[in-house]
Amino acid sequence: MSDKVIIFDTTLRDGEQCPGASLGVKEKVEIARQLARLKVDVIEGGFPIASPGDFEAVQLIAEQVRGPVIAALARSTEQDILRAAQALKPAKRKRIHVFLATSPIHMQYKLRKAEEEILRQAVWAVGLARKHADDIEFSPEDASRTEPRFLHQVVEAVIKAGATTVNIADTVGIAIPEQFGQLIAGLKMHVPNIARAVISVHCHNDLGLSTSNSLAAVKSGARQVECTINGLGERAGNASLEEIVMAIKTRADFFHVHTDVETTQIYKTSKLVSALTGMVVQPNKAIVGDNAFAHESGIHQDGILKLRETYEIMKAEEIGWQASRLVLGKHSGRHAFSERLKKLGFALKKEELERAFTQFKTLADKKKEVFDEDLIAIVEEETTTIPEAFRLEYVHTTSGSETVPTVTIRLAHAGKTLEQTSTGDGPVDACYKAIDRITGLKGELSDYGLRAVTSGKDALGEVTVKYRVKELEVTGRGTSTDIIEASAKAYVNAVNRVIYRRGAKPAKEERAAITP
Ligand code: KIV
Ligand code: ZN
Repeated sequence: MSDKVIIFDTTLRDGEQCPGASLGVKEKVEIARQLARLKVDVIEGGFPIASPGDFEAVQLIAEQVRGPVIAALARSTEQDILRAAQALKPAKRKRIHVFLATSPIHMQYKLRKAEEEILRQAVWAVGLARKHADDIEFSPEDASRTEPRFLHQVVEAVIKAGATTVNIADTVGIAIPEQFGQLIAGLKMHVPNIARAVISVHCHNDLGLSTSNSLAAVKSGARQVECTINGLGERAGNASLEEIVMAIKTRADFFHVHTDVETTQIYKTSKLVSALTGMVVQPNKAIVGDNAFAHESGIHQDGILKLRETYEIMKAEEIGWQASRLVLGKHSGRHAFSERLKKLGFALKKEELERAFTQFKTLADKKKEVFDEDLIAIVEEETTTIPEAFRLEYVHTTSGSETVPTVTIRLAHAGKTLEQTSTGDGPVDACYKAIDRITGLKGELSDYGLRAVTSGKDALGEVTVKYRVKELEVTGRGTSTDIIEASAKAYVNAVNRVIYRRGAKPAKEERAAITP
């Protein structure tokens, strides 16, 4: 069996330090329960000295959440450690997480203490924490900017004092994977008692390297990774839990380690954290972003349809999401288009499919994503067998609050192109008058309806008209992202139905009218 990497989730502590992501006590408990379902090993519930709310949250989590170890953060001071210990009292399994900065810049400017004082304080703090819990984590803050010699000294001393985990923090996110891996390897080499503690890492994402740094550390022997859901955290955030866990799972061949995380809970946890913190996940975020399992390119869609693994290294189902999505858009090809139509229950003939595909491409040029409802509208329009006595070629609309609505329409008819311009009470009225002038049909519009077939600002609009010529009433339909164009298509469709129903040709007086 491979080594286990302990997953220490700090969404509720470091994650909550993310500007704009403050959580109430109730929300923190709800997230902690979900983290337990996700089967993380450690939940850092908060920093009890920071506020009464933080204290209460840690206490409630310690009381109510079972399974993971519950950790609380403390500076290396008596007050902090006692407060953390008090908040953790109800926990079945608890950990006090003590930290103290060890880098020259932090020691000199922030703490104004020399190395010897820091060393003494760290040992004293771990000793005090050990009186309240057996499980003690010590973090040399800003470890990645700490002199390796001093880091080794501190780590050895805190392990001797009773620390069971030593957490190497890349506090400012400055580390580079190769270098960070060497730092961990250096600890294994130069700290004589290192085997008595778990080496942990805590990487920030200021250079976008938090996941890579954490994984480089794992490769060098770190066996705990601190991370957060959706990569939340101070400034640019922390290493994202979902990336760490899925990288270890997907590349087990390389890392030769495992985690106990229930990966099918990842998506749900990400959604919950995003909803409760109000921090939206970017669409192209690895693993949990909206686009993580969506394919738009025609080449990729074709590959996926032939064998999923051609373009996917993980299954969406592994993280508890629905199957990968083929997004139909302008880059999609015939294969994905016809597969989707089959799924929607349409069996089109070759020529119908070609026509529908052309329509789809035209629509996809205007609209980012073509939804199933769009396809249904396209296919229904394309598969009507009404001969097109008139075909809409062009619509041009001028309208506005200070402008007389004017519409120019061009229709193809019997090998000719006929064009008329008309004004009207509104652009739809102007459009219909222009069409009437071309066709010469003297009908009346008995009903007009417009609905958005799909969602979003670029939704496809469907216009339905009821059109009556003498005793004959027909229904015409047209769709477009432009409602005047949809209106024109619906009206022309109705005109064609009238002509078809009356015996293939316009009546005599109408034929006269359509001659330019
Ligand atoms: O970034 C950091 O150094 C921390 C420590 C408290 C571990 O969050
Ligand atoms: Zn941090």
